[in-house]
Amino acid sequence: MAYTIDLTGKIALVTGGASGIGYAIAEAFLEAGAEVIVTAKTDTSLEKCNEKTKYGVLKKIKLDVTNDISIENLFSQIDDLHILVNNAGIVKRGLEFRIEHFADVINTNLMGVMRMSHEALPKLALTHGNIINIASMWSFFGSPMSPGYTASKTGIIGLTKSLSNAWYEHHVRVNAIAPGYIETKLTKPLRDEKEEKEKITERTVMKKWGAPKDIAGAAVYLASDKANYTTGTTITVDGGYSIT
Ligand SMILES: NC(=O)c1ccc[n+]([C@@H]2O[C@H](COP(=O)([O-])OP(=O)(O)OC[C@H]3O[C@@H](n4cnc5c(N)ncnc54)[C@H](OP(=O)(O)O)[C@@H]3O)[C@@H](O)[C@H]2O)c1
Repeated sequence: MAYTIDLTGKIALVTGGASGIGYAIAEAFLEAGAEVIVTAKTDTSLEKCNEKTKYGVLKKIKLDVTNDISIENLFSQIDDLHILVNNAGIVKRGLEFRIEHFADVINTNLMGVMRMSHEALPKLALTHGNIINIASMWSFFGSPMSPGYTASKTGIIGLTKSLSNAWYEHHVRVNAIAPGYIETKLTKPLRDEKEEKEKITERTVMKKWGAPKDIAGAAVYLASDKANYTTGTTITVDGGYSIT
């Protein structure tokens, strides 16, 4: 019998799961047998998101993680919850030295994770569920162009440790994944700068950027019972970028 990861009977919520890394995680959760809800901030992204995947149908709900009413509205549509992936995120490269942009990025990437985790806790406590936060290479390094993004993603690692410590009394595990450079719409402006794109490719041990699905395996593992002794940790999935 093959060694398998089975998420049958689990209900997962992936914020920002209508595209990119979140969508790949959502598809993989479906493949593993879970029911999956994905969200986007805008109607355009929700409409563009193909809910009919090879492995089943995704439920789509609009969500702004900076808005308490939007979060309340989302949770009013969810009964049980086993897995929360805090994946929604933005970067405002080059603009984040201005305080309004710095604040916007922190509010979305870091405070959004706290808001969502706090609202999800009562449901996750009932199912002994888990949270997966999406960190970044900029959790470890200092971006000269994106101080808000760096601060938010460094904060994700600290928040993951703190919540994992606090919430195991509810049998809720909290972990993070730090992706390397992945081809998504978030990194399109960076990839359009030929020199920057090349620099990153060259530094990466595997000499290539990742695809969204490269992140999904770590998420399926962390979400599953196979990770039942794992909490407070960050798994790096970066093709070797961070070891050079
Ligand atoms: N791509 C990479 O190389 C990379 C590397 C490390 C970490 N990450 C992280 O991975 C996560 C996913 O990014 P991605 O690369 O897959 O980009 P993406 O396709 O642009 O996904 C970002 C998602 O977040 C949603 N979002 C943005 N602001 C939101 C808000 N206020 N409330 C709720 N949802 C919001 C977006 O919705 P709309 O489309 O409607 O705006 C979109 O669905 C982010 O946290 C990012 O920081 C990415």
